[in-house]
Amino acid sequence: MISIDPVNTEFVAEIGDVDLARLTDAVFAEIEAAFNRYAVLVFRHQPLTEGEQLDFARRFGELEVSIQPFVATPGGKRRIQTGFSDISNLDENGELLKDSDNRRLINLANQLWHTDSSFKRTPGKMSMLSAQHVVPSGGETEFADMRAAWDALPAERRHGLEHLVAEHDYFHSRKKVGLDPATITPERRALRPAVPQVFVRTHPASGRKSLVLASHITRIYGMDEADGRRLVDELMAYATQPQFVYTHRWAVDDVVLWDNRCTMHRGRPHDESLRRAMRRATVSDDGPTIPENWQPDRNHVDA
Ligand code: OGA
Ligand code: MN
Repeated sequence: MISIDPVNTEFVAEIGDVDLARLTDAVFAEIEAAFNRYAVLVFRHQPLTEGEQLDFARRFGELEVSIQPFVATPGGKRRIQTGFSDISNLDENGELLKDSDNRRLINLANQLWHTDSSFKRTPGKMSMLSAQHVVPSGGETEFADMRAAWDALPAERRHGLEHLVAEHDYFHSRKKVGLDPATITPERRALRPAVPQVFVRTHPASGRKSLVLASHITRIYGMDEADGRRLVDELMAYATQPQFVYTHRWAVDDVVLWDNRCTMHRGRPHDESLRRAMRRATVSDDGPTIPENWQPDRNHVDA
């Protein structure tokens, strides 16, 4: 039996008495049950190899392939293998990124509240970070519970939200941190078209509803643009209040995984002259949240 220590009553749990490099199906089933209940799981002292981390992540589903239209990887060389997103301020040789390196932009976008890959038709289900280099202060990762935010929303404020459809755009959050729109060539745009996502969703395992928010949201279909932006801004501020947020302070060999279907997260700033390096494996959701044949001129989806 694994040990489960809730950090917040129903949001974050620290899991102990487990070696993630040597999992049995039975132990994984316990972890999966905890994942479905808490949404964020923290494991300490798990020095996983790249292969072990990918094997663990694969138990949750199909690994997502990460293509980042703006990430220069000279000669295709990477710091870590392609199954991962490189969440670090290091280059392919493990050296600190130069100020001019556009990979810094990706790191900055990670400091905005978001959920992973909601800018893809099939968004991320589970993401898992393992920490190799940590900074002594700053550089925390914060998680916000979108189920608790939904539950706490007054009934009259919830009204009408459940049928809304939002447009999510990879480039929207990048523009917010300084990406020059002129660099979004048609080729890059074709790699990352804007996509529709439900605005409220129900978690298949727990049956709990949650808001689907992210800094990738550009607009609400069928709503005046300014009104849509106001609604999204209001709910983003509401859903990230301290009572919905857990702050993770990293130690080397921490493994943290989270359910992108019902959380948002963001990285916090830190001294960029210090190394911070993590590997992220992400598993895709079971399919799109909006049917492929949905038309943007329809401003809602039937629940
Ligand atoms: C991520 C992410 C934030 C951080 O890995 O998906 O957004 O704290 N990370 O680095
Ligand atoms: Mn992220």
